[in-house]
Amino acid sequence: MKTSGALLAIAASAAALPGSHKPKPQPDADGKFTLTAPGIRAQFIPYAATLTNLFVKDKNGVETDIVLGYDNTSYYPVDPGHPVYNAIPGRYVNRIGNGTYTLDGVTYHTEKNDGPNTLHSGTNNWSYRVWNVTNVTNSSITFSIHDPSNSSLGMMGDVDASVTYSVSKNKWSIVMDAISPQQRTPVMLTQHTYFQLDAFKNPTNRTVWNHTLYAPTAKRALVADQNALPTGEIANITKNSIDDFWSAPHQLGFASGEVGFENHCGSGCHGYNGALAFNNKRNKKDVALTLSSAFSGIKAELTTDQDAVVLYTCNWNDGKSEFKSTQGVAGQDKFIPRDGCIAIEAQDYVDGINQ
Ligand SMILES: *[C@@H]1O[C@H](CO)[C@@H](O)[C@H](O)[C@H]1NC(C)=O
Ligand SMILES: *[C@@H]1O[C@H](CO)[C@@H](O)[C@H](O)[C@H]1NC(C)=O
Ligand SMILES: *[C@@H]1O[C@H](CO)[C@@H](O)[C@H](O)[C@H]1NC(C)=O
Ligand SMILES: *[C@@H]1O[C@H](CO)[C@@H](O)[C@H](O)[C@H]1NC(C)=O
Ligand SMILES: *[C@@H]1O[C@H](CO)[C@@H](O)[C@H](O)[C@H]1NC(C)=O
Ligand SMILES: *[C@@H]1O[C@H](CO)[C@@H](O)[C@H](O)[C@H]1NC(C)=O
Ligand SMILES: *[C@@H]1O[C@H](CO)[C@@H](O)[C@H](O)[C@H]1NC(C)=O
Ligand SMILES: *[C@@H]1O[C@H](CO)[C@@H](O)[C@H](O)[C@H]1NC(C)=O
Ligand SMILES: *[C@@H]1O[C@H](CO)[C@@H](O)[C@H](O)[C@H]1NC(C)=O
Ligand SMILES: *[C@@H]1O[C@H](CO)[C@@H](O)[C@H](O)[C@H]1NC(C)=O
Repeated sequence: MKTSGALLAIAASAAALPGSHKPKPQPDADGKFTLTAPGIRAQFIPYAATLTNLFVKDKNGVETDIVLGYDNTSYYPVDPGHPVYNAIPGRYVNRIGNGTYTLDGVTYHTEKNDGPNTLHSGTNNWSYRVWNVTNVTNSSITFSIHDPSNSSLGMMGDVDASVTYSVSKNKWSIVMDAISPQQRTPVMLTQHTYFQLDAFKNPTNRTVWNHTLYAPTAKRALVADQNALPTGEIANITKNSIDDFWSAPHQLGFASGEVGFENHCGSGCHGYNGALAFNNKRNKKDVALTLSSAFSGIKAELTTDQDAVVLYTCNWNDGKSEFKSTQGVAGQDKFIPRDGCIAIEAQDYVDGINQ
């Protein structure tokens, strides 16, 4: 079963690389595997099947690292904040309401690790495991995971899953497969990358509020409670209301002056941490969502077979974490401000297992 697929095409100029036939690619001294294709260079580590760096060219042809992360690859597993940086959470991403679901007449209880709910399957989630590298070339890598039954509390039956990342001219593609050979079990996956299309190089503003988002078929949103748990209601998005990225391309901060923006993603959280539903009759080969920045001139186009997307505008950034040495401007400090990034997570409907 193909559970999730996404293709991110990033506009950039590029020159062809010479081809060659040499030994199997090895990780560098930091443990990173590097994939290259014209206009794009992506680096990955087996911890959580994580993307550490994604380099594309900006409007001036300068290579730009447009995702968050750490220089120090040893820090990903020990970071107490652990924002699921560019990783694959699983086996059931996002929230399970009240840590409870019923499948085939049996009610299961999962770990309540996010207030009254389960988040990313609890404290033995896939984004904290070192995945196996089962195939690697200079333009693709496959990470695999064997997830034993009940290793995340209340999720029964083994699951074997893999993610294959590959690059081709200006494109990063993501294909996830998962099988549950023993019994039916909840499986929902996503790729959880945080983007900053200016790579913190805008000398006057490091937030994403001036990035522009457009998702022309995302005319509905999953209504959520103060714990960011969907209530089951899927509401139409009114033109020019806070979630409106369908009627026209809007800057992410376009609604920041509106009443409701302040707690829009749960109590104390401003901006976005919710799910938009695409028109499920759309052509899935069409671009579903575009994120762009006039400052860098970089535009990312998302194509996905999934029916929804979670947008998370990084309310949690506390101004104390540094961005990478590949980012920013020489001579300035390196701190990521609140609202300094946006996670774009193509996935199925959050807590769909209960709705
Ligand atoms: C992969 O890339 C490395 C580094 O550029 C090169 O040495 C090697 O020959 C390439 N291998 C293949 C199969 O193209
Ligand atoms: C990288 O992170 C690890 C784990 O926190 C730490 O032990 C190590 O000192 C760090 N290395 C550098 C160069 O900061
Ligand atoms: C919430 O889960 C608990 C068990 O963790 C269960 O006893 C309770 O009935 C559930 N409440 C609802 C509203 O489903
Ligand atoms: C995922 O698992 C780790 C390791 O057990 C845990 O520290 C973390 O809190 C879990 N993530 C979430 C979102 O609960
Ligand atoms: C490894 O990946 C390459 C490139 O995607 C593919 O052609 C090949 O079939 C894969 N090999 C295996 C064993 O999956
Ligand atoms: C990696 O492969 C080994 C050998 O097959 C297996 O024991 C281990 O569980 C795998 N690791 C993960 C994270 O699935
Ligand atoms: C699942 O694991 C928990 C401990 O994490 C245990 O209490 C429970 O009995 C296990 N369930 C089954 C069906 O094995
Ligand atoms: C960045 O731009 C946003 C949107 O205009 C604004 O709200 C914020 O105050 C700016 N931040 C800085 C540091 O100028
Ligand atoms: C939502 O919009 C659709 C299509 O425009 C319409 O058919 C439906 O009645 C609307 N639903 C609500 C609750 O307004
Ligand atoms: C940045 O966004 C703010 C609203 O958040 C808007 O007022 C301002 O004009 C935008 N700046 C640019 C350069 O687009």
